[in-house]
Amino acid sequence: MDQYRVYGNPIKQSRSPFIHTAFAKSTEQQLCYQSEFVPLDTFAQTIKQFVIAGGKGANITVPFKEQALALCDQLSERAQLAGAVNTLSINNGQIFGDNTDGLGLVKDLLQNQVGIKGVNILFLGAGGAAKGVILPLLEQQPNSIIIANRTVSKAQDLCRQFNSDKLSACGFEQIANKHYDVIINATSASLSGNVPPIAEQLIHSDTVCYDMVYGQGLTPFLEWAKQSGSEKLIDGLGMLVGQAAESFNLWRGVMPETEQVLQSLRASLENNN
Ligand code: ATR
Repeated sequence: MDQYRVYGNPIKQSRSPFIHTAFAKSTEQQLCYQSEFVPLDTFAQTIKQFVIAGGKGANITVPFKEQALALCDQLSERAQLAGAVNTLSINNGQIFGDNTDGLGLVKDLLQNQVGIKGVNILFLGAGGAAKGVILPLLEQQPNSIIIANRTVSKAQDLCRQFNSDKLSACGFEQIANKHYDVIINATSASLSGNVPPIAEQLIHSDTVCYDMVYGQGLTPFLEWAKQSGSEKLIDGLGMLVGQAAESFNLWRGVMPETEQVLQSLRASLENNN
């Protein structure tokens, strides 16, 4: 049977085997998808062995996405721009590296009836998670994307990578007080119980607030956004399922339905499983 893996460290928390096994079932594809813990210093060796053993594809998660890029024989443009790879496709011993995180985000926004064309986006964060999604967002032709980051120089560097007049950079304190249709939190602040220090006045009832991380209940950023008046709150669980669907499609040539899987994951999260 065709073999797929998700490699990371840690990996126990990964929902990818559940998601891909469900996709395989719903699309009647025969495949085996498992998670594998990789010691920090053996990533390259692990991938080489998987290729030799005839593995067909893999997802790569923290902290190996940048290392994965260096192992690929060929890269998609979005993986190159992201500087990170989350999906490997293996054909005749050759590794093709792609990054489906941004497509996962775009897909999830659209699934939540959030149009991106012509809108003003305030984008918080300029780390690895941010890098992966800027190009797919730009491709949806927003009116503007302002990247705000704690370390301003990182936001400026990120802007420079994309030759686009739609993009600009600033620190959290310099965010212009205008109407943003969508605010996306790509910082890791929620993971440590923090919220990026942006002004409450930026939030209106119709401001879509999106946190790229997820957890049980609202993330700290979404809780803050709710208290600040936003009525449209979305966490990153849909993005996780969306990026998995894009990887699955790359490997198998079939785009799986995501709604059922998302509902099961949500239920399992709320039950603390
Ligand atoms: P990754 O690459 O895994 O996304 P990262 O490169 O450490 O992680 O980036 C994390 C992002 O979250 C960065 O934008 C970081 O801001 P800095 O570039 O200034 O470090 C942001 N971040 C992390 N904790 C934060 C906090 N408490 N408040 C605001 N931003 C935070």
